[in-house]
Amino acid sequence: MKSLDSLFAAARAAQANAYAPYSRFQVGAAVLTPQGRIYGGCNVENAAYPVGVCAEASAISAMVCAGDNRISEILVVGDGDTLVTPCGACRQRISEFSISSTRIHIAGPGGVRHSFTPDELLPHSFGPKNLGV
Ligand code: THU
Repeated sequence: MKSLDSLFAAARAAQANAYAPYSRFQVGAAVLTPQGRIYGGCNVENAAYPVGVCAEASAISAMVCAGDNRISEILVVGDGDTLVTPCGACRQRISEFSISSTRIHIAGPGGVRHSFTPDELLPHSFGPKNLGV
């Protein structure tokens, strides 16, 4: 699928710019909106460790900053053999902007390894509906 290829390419490009001198674990992410726009993000670590930002948060911030607020697909890529699934906080961030068809793709250097629905990653989530939004 062309959009998935483009999403993977955007996430890999972002991963190459990741600032991860402490963990040495570079992560890239890319968001695809229903309008077909793509936003990339990478992890940005900090000497004050908790201040670091995940790749998913970075991509979602870029999306919102550009005026979009719906995620059709998000792809996360990292090196190594394990699945680079989003952390708990990023699952909540993804959930905020998800639609019924949203898919979360987890990739390694060779491509997508697994795809999830938001509900699989964060069941029984608290969201806008809880606040009547
Ligand atoms: N990291 C992400 O950016 N996304 C994930 O899904 C998992 C972890 C980052 C945070 C930190 O900079 C490094 O990977 C090691 O945890």
